Amino acid sequence: MGIFGTLLVATAGTTVYGAFDPLDNIADICKKYGLWMHVDVMLFRNIAHNYSFIGLKSGTSCILMMCAGYLFQPDKQYDTAYDTGDKTIQCGRHVDVFKLWLMWKAKGTRGFEILINKSLELAEYLYKELNSRENFELVFDPELTNVCFWYIPPNLRRIPNGPEREKLLHQVAPKIKARMIEEGTTIVSYQPHGDKVNFFRMVFSNPATRKSDVDFLLEEIERLGKDL
Ligand SMILES: *[C@@H]1O[C@H](CO)[C@@H](O)[C@H](O)[C@H]1NC(C)=O
Ligand SMILES: *[C@@H]1O[C@H](CO)[C@@H](O)[C@H](O)[C@H]1NC(C)=O
Repeated sequence: MGIFGTLLVATAGTTVYGAFDPLDNIADICKKYGLWMHVDVMLFRNIAHNYSFIGLKSGTSCILMMCAGYLFQPDKQYDTAYDTGDKTIQCGRHVDVFKLWLMWKAKGTRGFEILINKSLELAEYLYKELNSRENFELVFDPELTNVCFWYIPPNLRRIPNGPEREKLLHQVAPKIKARMIEEGTTIVSYQPHGDKVNFFRMVFSNPATRKSDVDFLLEEIERLGKDL
């Protein structure tokens, strides 16, 4: 959240955690001081009885210049010169608003609602699965469709919490992802964030995803990471 002149920008669904600013409180402040309130929204969300949105894989309005530390991790097993996304202003985006218009035409508002509900259900399913499996730890309780978690291999479980364990845990996600890419079975992103070492970040948006895919992902992580 930041205040620029008479504009206050809040976020509904941050990229890494899917966290929300307290929008109703911010709206009160904007009303009091006559500020324009802008909300960057990752998906649809009913804000003060009104719908506001951008996103849906297609940015439509602003240019943000930043080093995207959550993208394009350098510690991969292939030549990262092939990750061309951070060499363009638009990153992975192409024609912007047309995609939104076309998708809305095709699916309708209700179609979006079904899609979002399905993504939220899958996120909740993954969250419950992670809670019930002893080799996984959640980074935080998810607010949206982003579920962030660590896989703790059995060898690491024996090491008490502390810098040594953190150092080893930091290497787990990159190694598992490298194996996933080599085997070609599945793929999931990971990154460190703030004081948190590398963790997996699963974000649901594909309506074709099934619960069995979620199970498969967790089983693959265990299969590829249990000897680490
Ligand atoms: C929602 O937004 C529209 C368009 O700006 C406006 O006309 C309408 O009054 C708003 N509804 C509510 C409940 O704030
Ligand atoms: C989506 O989920 C919300 C909250 O559970 C529910 O009120 C709504 O009816 C659902 N929409 C559809 C289209 O199923």
